[in-house]
Amino acid sequence: MYVLVSGASRGVGRDTALYLAQQGHEIWALSRSAEKLTSLAQSAKDQPGRIHVVVSDLAQAEAIDQSIAQILPHMPHLDVLINNAGLLIHQPFEQLTDEAWLAMWQVNVMGAVRLIRALLPKLQQAPRAHVVQIGSMGGFQGSAKFPGLSAYSASKAALASLSECLAEEFKEQGIAFNTLALGAVQTEMLAQAFPGYQAPVRSEEMGAFVGWFALHGHRYFNGKVLPVSVSTP
Ligand SMILES: NC(=O)c1ccc[n+]([C@@H]2O[C@H](COP(=O)([O-])OP(=O)(O)OC[C@H]3O[C@@H](n4cnc5c(N)ncnc54)[C@H](OP(=O)(O)O)[C@@H]3O)[C@@H](O)[C@H]2O)c1
Repeated sequence: MYVLVSGASRGVGRDTALYLAQQGHEIWALSRSAEKLTSLAQSAKDQPGRIHVVVSDLAQAEAIDQSIAQILPHMPHLDVLINNAGLLIHQPFEQLTDEAWLAMWQVNVMGAVRLIRALLPKLQQAPRAHVVQIGSMGGFQGSAKFPGLSAYSASKAALASLSECLAEEFKEQGIAFNTLALGAVQTEMLAQAFPGYQAPVRSEEMGAFVGWFALHGHRYFNGKVLPVSVSTP
């Protein structure tokens, strides 16, 4: 299959891309860090699949349009888009500036919107396409909430809602949209936001699950927001 993973330079995105390359798929790995993406592509060179590097900033609409325009001719169609890139600024509500709110909105919501829009022609050409949004338990209704995550969680809730709406809008075109609302995973993002906390799930484990779900989940789910968490509630 042909797959694009955003936020693939580290953490869950990197491990998802590696899992999919191990399964023999062709991956476009996107983030801002050319160096880390090149190292990822190198790590996969003995795998059955291939990883191509796409250096771009999801917060910049023009940059995204340009980078996607460059790769479109090399992509027969796109079976899977994984909107995994994310930004978390952990701050009490009183200290969250408009800039911080908008920075998270740019990456967590508009980044996904821009990628879906730019890649739509290739998703429409796939026999059956799956767009997986990487949400968060923070943006899942009724879950336990944590101070300092209001802007981040609100952006993830918006991403989940976007996904439900697009599932309806594109159901006749064979494009499924699902959101995985992740619980804590041991990555740089988590370590920065919650120093000293040990997550119950490793990044490699979550990457393998996200990769598996992206390949198979749309046979069973569409327009769903699924909690991927071992804690309750
Ligand atoms: N870890 C957790 O506990 C947890 C829990 C719930 C949900 N999540 C979600 O899971 C996803 C992966 O999280 P993670 O923990 O693996 O995060 P991470 O280690 O911080 O990695 C984030 C990725 O997003 C990319 N990114 C950030 N800003 C970008 C931008 N402007 N343009 C392009 N790429 C950008 C980063 O690459 P560059 O810096 O190279 O651009 C990096 O590859 C995120 O959406 C996160 O919100 C994580």
